[in-house]
Amino acid sequence: GAAVEVDISGLKPGEKITVEWRGKPVWIVKRTPEQLAELPKLDAQLADPKSARNPAELTPEYARNEWRSIKPEVLVAVGICSHLGCSPTEKFASGPQPSLPDDWKGGFLCPCHGSTFDMAGRVFKNKPAPDNLEVPPHMYLSETKLLIG
Ligand code: FES
Repeated sequence: GAAVEVDISGLKPGEKITVEWRGKPVWIVKRTPEQLAELPKLDAQLADPKSARNPAELTPEYARNEWRSIKPEVLVAVGICSHLGCSPTEKFASGPQPSLPDDWKGGFLCPCHGSTFDMAGRVFKNKPAPDNLEVPPHMYLSETKLLIG
């Protein structure tokens, strides 16, 4: 499929935009400094904190880091749950909520069977989804222009 060019100059911290690539929703999320600071603290709660599973399909080499991204603040991920393919919704709210991990600091919740993902698209343990969200191939054409695909 054709690559998709996206201008992210208007994307503010805490915001997400969705573009379509190969018929899939691709999220571009600008994480806040607080959300970024949480990521290294979550490893023990995650099924695959280092994104070691299926790296060829799920995590390009340049995203095999704690943020799963090229720029720490910008997450690019396919918004399709690795369980049965529903699209998770964002839950940026903080504080304990029923059915969410105790110290949930925001991330994504799959409405179908309750899988939860952190702000890097990494799946929490003991949830039906086996894998982290896919990071699609992408690159920056400039400071604010992304090419997906
Ligand atoms: Fe997402 Fe089942 S499809 S938890």
